[in-house]
Amino acid sequence: MAVNVEDNPYRAQSAEIIDIKQETDVEYTFRLAANMDLNCGQFLEVSIPGFGEAPISVSDFGTDWLELTIRRVGDLTDKIHELGIGDKLYLRGPYGNGFSLEEFKHRNLIIAAGGTGLAPVRSVINYFYDHPTEVNDFELLMGFKDPDSLLFERDIDRWKEKLEVLITVDQTCGVWGECVGLITEHIPKVNLSDVENTEVIVVGPPLMMKHTIKEFKKLNVPDDKIWVSYERKMHCGLGKCGHCKIEDNYVCVDGPVYNYAEIKDLKD
Ligand SMILES: Cc1cc2nc3c(=O)[nH]c(=O)nc-3n(C[C@H](O)[C@H](O)[C@H](O)COP(=O)(O)OP(=O)(O)OC[C@H]3O[C@@H](n4cnc5c(N)ncnc54)[C@H](O)[C@@H]3O)c2cc1C
Ligand code: FES
Repeated sequence: MAVNVEDNPYRAQSAEIIDIKQETDVEYTFRLAANMDLNCGQFLEVSIPGFGEAPISVSDFGTDWLELTIRRVGDLTDKIHELGIGDKLYLRGPYGNGFSLEEFKHRNLIIAAGGTGLAPVRSVINYFYDHPTEVNDFELLMGFKDPDSLLFERDIDRWKEKLEVLITVDQTCGVWGECVGLITEHIPKVNLSDVENTEVIVVGPPLMMKHTIKEFKKLNVPDDKIWVSYERKMHCGLGKCGHCKIEDNYVCVDGPVYNYAEIKDLKD
């Protein structure tokens, strides 16, 4: 029987790099020419033939472009960082559920993001920045290792014009005009006077997420008002290989975005 390659879910499409912005020494944002039907917080399987494939969050998108913010950590990401404008990346997806913006509309929203955890929520922030009447109070807390690890500095300058933005670094040396200390130390400063009407998104490394959620719970935020995005080892992205499975949950399909009440008891 002839196999129709068009039906092959593992088939990637090529996309040209049309812009590259350096964020830090090890993180670059690549803008690609691509027309995809995307939700905020979804991810793509990104590849270069011969170098591998990895899941990468879409850090922002428009009608004919999308951005990927990629940290250089291994075989594929090293190779991607060598690419220039006009080169191609290979994409399949989008995968995962992403954030449902409807959950946050006309409510107070607090986003607590650590390091590269900011990538999957950047498009949520940009959406409400562009549609300020669709959200009530909007506070953004961002934690980075040090001032040199700051991502999306151009966006942050813009966000500060309309949003309550708190940036903290674990450590600093030299001149630093923002906060110092772990993000958890600053959570008591957020406005939770109307907790029933407030949704909280927590994204970042696993330890940061665990302790940040604990702090919000101390301030009486109910589990079902907390949203998280998980990064797990993944291969297929299609719910077939089982690499990302936690109990009966396929993070690549059922996640990576979860309501905390749904997954807090899962044994990883
Ligand atoms: C849903 C999701 C979204 C993601 N979004 C992003 C994103 O937006 N941006 C981003 O930069 N990353 C993101 N990631 C993470 C990214 O997919 C991984 O970092 C990926 O492994 C990079 O591929 P690589 O081939 O470059 O690195 P790999 O070669 O896979 O190496 C990854 C890590 O494993 C270590 N390693 C590799 N081989 C070995 C070994 N044999 N023994 C011990 N350690 C080893 C490396 O040192 C490195 O720290 C996401 C992951 C998920 C699941
Ligand atoms: S990555 Fe294969 S099942 Fe989720």
